[in-house]
Amino acid sequence: MKIFLDTADVEAIKWGVALGVVDGVTTNPTLAARAGRGFKETVLEICEICTGPVSAETVGLTAEQIIKEGRILAQWAPNIVVKVPLIAEGLKAVRQLSAEGIKTNVTLVFSPAQALLAAKAGATYVSPFLGRYDDIGQEGMQLVREIVQIFRNYNFQTEILAASIRNPLHVVEAAKAGADIATMPPKVLEQMIAHPLTDKGLTSFLKDWESVPDAKTVFAEPER
Ligand code: E4P
Repeated sequence: MKIFLDTADVEAIKWGVALGVVDGVTTNPTLAARAGRGFKETVLEICEICTGPVSAETVGLTAEQIIKEGRILAQWAPNIVVKVPLIAEGLKAVRQLSAEGIKTNVTLVFSPAQALLAAKAGATYVSPFLGRYDDIGQEGMQLVREIVQIFRNYNFQTEILAASIRNPLHVVEAAKAGADIATMPPKVLEQMIAHPLTDKGLTSFLKDWESVPDAKTVFAEPER
């Protein structure tokens, strides 16, 4: 399963990329606003830090405008993915952008029917927002499971990008459901790393290590 960071915070992206486990980045207008700087300069910097796919979202509401914005975004860097909302005009735009070889990520997907249409339109990625379902007391993961089933039935090449991830359990459940990618805030990636038993075990290993006779010298030898 691929891991994307869902942020426009370049410092957080540098941290994630340095870990060696981040395969891409997703942004949206809210995250861009939170970054507090120009959208283009932010996205260009992200594309340099992360060589994997970087989603940048269009804001137009007509196919014509979305296509225009998508073409502009696609020229910024080779790893840009044009993020398009799941509306009728968005589907038209995705069909055209795909025909031009521009990668697309269809976002704000809240039903399997919407995901099916995105795949038929030729989307590279489809982003079901599972956390926003959980926020209103409904199980978002069921959406991911149904999309996985449909895409497998018809061998769609569109990748399922589990989005609106709130915690590590979401990532694990999305992986078990067969999502291709999970995009998450940096905080969730931090939470995935941490475990109190790991910390406790490490503390005791390091304490015991002190009584190993050559503990202070064994790693002091020069490398050959
Ligand atoms: C997906 O690409 C979106 O940017 C994101 O996952 C939305 O998540 P939210 O519900 O935390 O805003």
